[in-house]
Amino acid sequence: MKKVIFFCVFSCWIMQITSSDLSAGGSSDVRVRMGENITLNCSMRNRYEVAWYHLRSEELVLLISAEKDKTGRKLLINYNPNSNRMEITADGWVTRVSLTISGVTESDSGLYFCGIKSDAPEMFFDKPIRLEIEGNRFQFFSSYLHKLVNVGGSG
Ligand SMILES: *[C@@H]1O[C@H](CO)[C@@H](O)[C@H](O)[C@H]1NC(C)=O
Ligand SMILES: *[C@@H]1O[C@H](CO)[C@@H](O)[C@H](O)[C@H]1NC(C)=O
Repeated sequence: MKKVIFFCVFSCWIMQITSSDLSAGGSSDVRVRMGENITLNCSMRNRYEVAWYHLRSEELVLLISAEKDKTGRKLLINYNPNSNRMEITADGWVTRVSLTISGVTESDSGLYFCGIKSDAPEMFFDKPIRLEIEGNRFQFFSSYLHKLVNVGGSG
């Protein structure tokens, strides 16, 4: 029982931190703990192509690109070298596309740009999303709690 309460307090605290960051209005900073999955969203209304870029240490890297198929209701992936941990998904009418990165690491931190394109050659960019990875502090706290609970418990 002790264990359950402890972990609820812990995860509620994390959830509070996360949601207050996301609802901070206008801010597009996203924080995630190391090892978790993150989904970044982008609007693709009336556009045919989408590409996600990652800017880190002054290097801009194309992560993934996709385009709508003829029906306009399905995304075809053109480029995804990290397909083992990155995927792009869309809603039924492909108005919203989401990039999901699973098992984030420190090297996933940085700015994410979603570019969308129609027939015109130029690409339009949404406001970038800053991804911050919360690693050691939380891992430390989590393992500290584990120890605390295990010492106090029966095991
Ligand atoms: C993207 O949308 C999904 C589904 O609505 C949501 O769970 C997720 O938190 C959103 N991502 C961000 C970074 O806001
Ligand atoms: C993260 O994504 C991986 C691969 O898509 C999945 O197997 C795993 O269940 C996800 N983890 C969480 C916490 O959603």
